[in-house]
Amino acid sequence: MAGLVLLGAQWGDEGKGKITDYLAEQATTIVRYQGGNNAGHTVVVGDEEFKLRLIPSGILYPGKTCVIGNGVVVDPRVMLSEISYLQEKGVDTGNLRVSERAHVIMPYHVAIDTYEEAAKGDQKIGTTKNGIGPCYMDKYARVGIRIADLMDKEVFAERLASVLKSKNDMIVKLYGGEPFDFDTMYKEYCDYADQIRPYVADTSVLVSEALERNENVVFEGAQGTLLDIDHGTYPYVTSSNPIASYACVGAGVGPTNIKNVLGIIKAYTTRVGEGPFPTELFDETGETLQRIGHEFGTVTGRTRRCGWMDIVMVNYAIRLSGINEFALMKLDVLDTLETVKICTHYECNGEKVIHFPTSLKKLAECKPVYEELPGWQCDTTGCASFDELPENAKRYVERIEALTGVPVKIVAVGPRRDQTIIRGGLFE
Ligand code: GDP
Ligand code: IMO
Ligand code: MG
Repeated sequence: MAGLVLLGAQWGDEGKGKITDYLAEQATTIVRYQGGNNAGHTVVVGDEEFKLRLIPSGILYPGKTCVIGNGVVVDPRVMLSEISYLQEKGVDTGNLRVSERAHVIMPYHVAIDTYEEAAKGDQKIGTTKNGIGPCYMDKYARVGIRIADLMDKEVFAERLASVLKSKNDMIVKLYGGEPFDFDTMYKEYCDYADQIRPYVADTSVLVSEALERNENVVFEGAQGTLLDIDHGTYPYVTSSNPIASYACVGAGVGPTNIKNVLGIIKAYTTRVGEGPFPTELFDETGETLQRIGHEFGTVTGRTRRCGWMDIVMVNYAIRLSGINEFALMKLDVLDTLETVKICTHYECNGEKVIHFPTSLKKLAECKPVYEELPGWQCDTTGCASFDELPENAKRYVERIEALTGVPVKIVAVGPRRDQTIIRGGLFE
């Protein structure tokens, strides 16, 4: 058994896609366990850039089983368009599987996401408007449609008929929108069902069997710890649980299968959408990180807010997920800076805060306290080993290890596969 959970330890976009792709070489099975097409994972292979939203980032290595787990919410239109996109680029999608227990994002979910955001005005979350929240709401309200339901035309007709009326009531009466037509939607989704059918499986069985054969399995998280519905900066969060323990729920395996939890952290912090961000920079340095790091959202094209590394947040992520190793991403983005800062703790009304606060009001009152380290001011993008990194860059990495007590097993110095420094075994 060698299950490895890979998850974002910040607010998403840490570089999970790149590391999933990297680890896929040594694994047989890669499973997405939560979220949906709100994710945007960019993977660079040679000169080619791939943007994946729903399909696991392991798909770019031929012969790997890639699973969209039961914890994911699946928009069939997005799944099919992503399959075509990959096939057009010559990627084999024959080993892709989607759980029959995954819930289906329907057009009314997307519409409601958009209406709800507009209705919230300046209280809006800044969602990706892909229907993620409304789909998870229906799952928990027990009115959702699962892939298995979509596969059976009679069951699908029954489920859709029972839910569409109340959705249309909501859309028309509450938001003054246009209702959806049952026949049109039914026909369209039956057509998608036929196209998706070859990919549908009881994926819990597939993943369990791979684990029983002692193969390496990567559980790929989407979003990040601070976007977690239970533990993130609520209500400015997503509607699923990116934290490691959800990998078991969202893939359909038991916790004893997980051996390692790899936290992905960017060498600085970013956030898309609304919500608190203690180490956010509003100055030239913030703009520099944004420009050099190309910090623009894959899904919505929005600018990502940028700030310094926040150890309070990262230590919180370690606690929630039992992270035992880190991949430190985008170290090269700091290459030009004269000095780099790490937030070691917060100060709130004269008190030292080391545990990430629950109350957003308290969080807003927290002032980050920084440790300043000298920059390295040289190009790290060609460094192939830890020893080749400039001394000050090594110091930065080692300081993060000291402040968190977690070893940095991977250091990334560029988007490509060969710009990945490995320090020790990964599935061991
Ligand atoms: P994810 O959502 O966590 O998979 O991250 P995204 O793909 O949304 O954002 C990370 C971006 O940084 C992508 O465009 C990657 O190609 C790029 N990237 C990943 N690692 C590195 C790195 O070490 N250095 C640089 N410069 N870019 C990187
Ligand atoms: P990856 O996997 C960064 C953010 C949205 C918004 C909030 C809720 O690429 O790291 P939602 O559409 O999920 O209801 O939006 O969550 N968000 C992400 N931010 N990276 C992501 O995914 C995100 N997925 C959702 O911007 O603030
Ligand atoms: Mg992303």
